[in-house]
Amino acid sequence: DASDDELKYRILTAKAELGERVVVLGHFYQRDEVIEFADFVGDSFQLANAAQTRDKAEAIVFCGVHFMAETADMLSGSHQSVILPNLAAGCSMADMADLPSVEACWAELEALYGTEPDAEGRVPVIPVTYMNSSAALKAFCGQHGGIVCTSSNAATVLEWAFERGQRVLFFPDQHLGRNTAKAMGVPLEEMPLWNPRLPLGGNEQAVMEQAKVVLWQGFCSVHKRFTVNQIEQARVDFPGVRVIVHPECPMEVVDAADEAGSTDYILKAIQAAPEGTTFAIGTEINMVNRLAAQYPQHTIFCLDPVICPCSTMYRIHPGYLAWVLEGLVAGEVRNQITVPEDTAVNARIALERMLAAKP
Ligand code: 13P
Ligand code: SF4
Repeated sequence: DASDDELKYRILTAKAELGERVVVLGHFYQRDEVIEFADFVGDSFQLANAAQTRDKAEAIVFCGVHFMAETADMLSGSHQSVILPNLAAGCSMADMADLPSVEACWAELEALYGTEPDAEGRVPVIPVTYMNSSAALKAFCGQHGGIVCTSSNAATVLEWAFERGQRVLFFPDQHLGRNTAKAMGVPLEEMPLWNPRLPLGGNEQAVMEQAKVVLWQGFCSVHKRFTVNQIEQARVDFPGVRVIVHPECPMEVVDAADEAGSTDYILKAIQAAPEGTTFAIGTEINMVNRLAAQYPQHTIFCLDPVICPCSTMYRIHPGYLAWVLEGLVAGEVRNQITVPEDTAVNARIALERMLAAKP
């Protein structure tokens, strides 16, 4: 309609005026009306890399969620500003772990396991944070010998951690932690769930003593909606269907699927498939619908018949994009995300360990 056309015109005009002074990054879960203006679209790992390498632009407009923009700010140059078009675009999973609770957990683990390395020089615990976490938690990992992971490199990162530590504290997403460690052969009984409100995370001492991966209780409210029933139904309705889910889905769902992988993994699998493949996908609906439109040679649908977008990703509306771009044209940086330098120095250590731990 007219207002959409007007917004489009305003965004394109501002972008043309700014030229290489601005780069617009977009996560796969962004709506189409935002993605059409992105200079680069990717998963959270690729976007972190993109933020680090676009040094020509003086502003990075990040169409994604808060923790991604924080990461972009920490990895981009000091001459660059990072802008989140709507400051209310957070991530409910990232909010499920905060620094005081992780520090309290850490103190309990130190009391339990001590602080001395074993004969092979492996420390008692390595903290691993999922990218979907605040900069403060990434800084905690940087300060305590730990590392960041994304859904595309979680196995590589856990291997890195097991080379250096006897066990791992993994936060905030229990599902990514459990699914990845399980695929690496860690038995379920060695992956206790940690309840920050209870001593020993609510576990028996004997359970904690044999722990290999201590899992935080966080989860993604979008991905926890996927069920084994949906997969069974898809297999009945579409015999031969290929089921791919995001590793933020619960373990039973990942086990019932044919494959699990990050948003970029899902994209690549679809691109590489022989024509006429039918896919049932367990991830955010904006991405699934876009894939269905972009790859009409396949049949692609979302496992969950009830449309469920990531409500915080959806808060990036083209109206906000126009507003921040026009701000830049007027010489004004609106909605800037800045991580304080004392946090950023430590968080960068954990991020750079991740960027260096290539598979
Ligand atoms: P990716 O790392 O696969 O892009 O996922 C990010 C995310 O927030 C998934 O919910
Ligand atoms: Fe966070 Fe889930 Fe949304 Fe990803 S899909 S940004 S984990 S709430």
